[in-house]
Amino acid sequence: MKTDDYKILKGQKALVSGASSGIGRAIAIALGRAGADVVVNCGRNRAEAGKVVAEIEGSGSRAFVFQADVSQEDQVLAMFARMKEQFGAVDIVVNNAGVQKDAPFDQMTVEQWDQVMGINLRGQFLCSREAVRHFRRQGIREEVSRAAGKIICISSVHEVIPWAGHVNYAASKGGVMLMMKSIAQEVAPLRIRVNSIAPGAIRTPINKEAWSTPEAYRDLMRLIPYKRIGEPEEIGRAAVWLASDDSDYITGATIFVDGGMTLYPGFEAGG
Ligand code: BGC
Repeated sequence: MKTDDYKILKGQKALVSGASSGIGRAIAIALGRAGADVVVNCGRNRAEAGKVVAEIEGSGSRAFVFQADVSQEDQVLAMFARMKEQFGAVDIVVNNAGVQKDAPFDQMTVEQWDQVMGINLRGQFLCSREAVRHFRRQGIREEVSRAAGKIICISSVHEVIPWAGHVNYAASKGGVMLMMKSIAQEVAPLRIRVNSIAPGAIRTPINKEAWSTPEAYRDLMRLIPYKRIGEPEEIGRAAVWLASDDSDYITGATIFVDGGMTLYPGFEAGG
């Protein structure tokens, strides 16, 4: 047995959007460790994305940075074309790029609304559509997977939990939920699997305010029955599993990785 025979995604080609930091970074590294070659997409932060590439290469897989704004069709098309050129295939696409532009609802600007919808929803649409086009053309690559392709949408607990002060963000994630399920229904006969991971509070730059001081952390724990924050690597492991044939019969599902945040923690005592 060769030493990397245990690598569950060996030979597969993956793309992770928004992979220069936070959850995307952890997913890209986890996929690389599991044997996949990875396109590390970033919006702006090339330098950080370069470090992610180095880490993936250190684990024995190939990787390169592709800077692209996922809300822009031409840039998304160029990114997938480059992936095909460099790696020769597209097997796994993780729609992770996402932003928050928070504001009280009556002060929310059209720019804040459009930026969040643009990256979080339109970006996931554009990358998913391109993925499906490639998967269709390619068909099942039996040597690497039972499926013709896998799409993983990174959603949020806020696909079901309303969020005052973050109406644009919650609306985008609610949109991701039904977009994911509808695509899943449409492409299942092609043996393309489409699923979501819905993270709760994970220790990343996007929500630093909610965990970086002891007071904020204590407040946050009121929302988490499991009484700890999540780590990006925990989302990485869920993504590896969802991308692998171990989850081959799963499509159209949202997996909540949230320490119970969606369990109505307000009812722990009372009701
Ligand atoms: C948001 C974080 C937030 C978490 C739980 C995520 O989708 O991006 O800012 O901490 O949901 O509320």
